[in-house]
Amino acid sequence: MTIDSVIEEYQLKIDSRLEMLSASSDQPYDAVFDAGRYSLLAGGKRIRPIILLEFYKLFGGIDDCAYNFACAVEMIHTYSLIHDDLPCMDNDDLRRGKPSCHKKFGEGMALLAGDFLLTEAFAVCAKTLGILPERVLSATAYLAAAAGGGGMIGGQVIDTAGNIVNEQMLFKMYSLKTCALIRAAAVCGVVLAGGDEQSITFAERYAENLGLAFQIIDDLLDVEGNAVTLGKPVGSDDKNEKTTSVRLLGAERCRALAEDFTNNAISALDCFDGNTEVLKEITEMLLRRKK
Ligand code: IPE
Ligand code: IPE
Ligand code: MG
Ligand code: MG
Ligand code: MG
Repeated sequence: MTIDSVIEEYQLKIDSRLEMLSASSDQPYDAVFDAGRYSLLAGGKRIRPIILLEFYKLFGGIDDCAYNFACAVEMIHTYSLIHDDLPCMDNDDLRRGKPSCHKKFGEGMALLAGDFLLTEAFAVCAKTLGILPERVLSATAYLAAAAGGGGMIGGQVIDTAGNIVNEQMLFKMYSLKTCALIRAAAVCGVVLAGGDEQSITFAERYAENLGLAFQIIDDLLDVEGNAVTLGKPVGSDDKNEKTTSVRLLGAERCRALAEDFTNNAISALDCFDGNTEVLKEITEMLLRRKK
């Protein structure tokens, strides 16, 4: 099986589970389900759930038991994108190739759609069946911390404050706003499958490096990419006068750094005994991505 077909198969299964988990049923509040599903089911690379499921498999996780949990991570990610695009944040009108949630449904409904997806995500975590409850609890705690004030939200706060003065502060911000959720995906996969502390540490090292490469490439694409291919605007960072890796370090150094972080991530995968070929290929692919 080629890596493209492996990813495609994952995406199809994730999409159909997300469809099921976010279904609404003829209620007066259905508008918030419509808005949430509009963004959630608009595609997206599904990289976080795929990483979770690959780590779950790597540590001997059986069957499809981790799919709900993996979809919960994607719901949190999608909520973060809906809120990130709001006029009070990055004020971007295009997401996943469609008008942003607030452009389609209005700001109030987009805010609520994000709230809905975030809250529902934890209900979905709690509906992880076929895995020991203590593992589910521990993974849920990790995910909540990674998404919260000391994680992704903390990163968004630093980003929004706009007072990044050096490389160290920039990478701290990236470690929170982007790496934290990717780290949670990897670690939750390990935890749900019953992996040990040492494996969690290696998974964190992998995801931290992948996340840094991922955000640097995202910054580069905002300058050099194509909006149609990306499915989101280019020039957003410039418009918002963001201090990004490209602005602080220049495109050439960014390309070199993204490659270094990718290589570090791949080296971290060598610490595991099992088959990490798919994770390695995904990691390589994300470095060369155009979207
Ligand atoms: C975009 O994430 C936000 C960042 C952390 C850079 P993705 O690039 O994973 O977006 P989708 O899910 O594919 O739309
Ligand atoms: C957002 O970073 C990271 C989130 C936590 C949503 P960006 O603002 O660079 O993401 P894009 O470029 O809008 O996808
Ligand atoms: Mg942003
Ligand atoms: Mg943005
Ligand atoms: Mg960006």
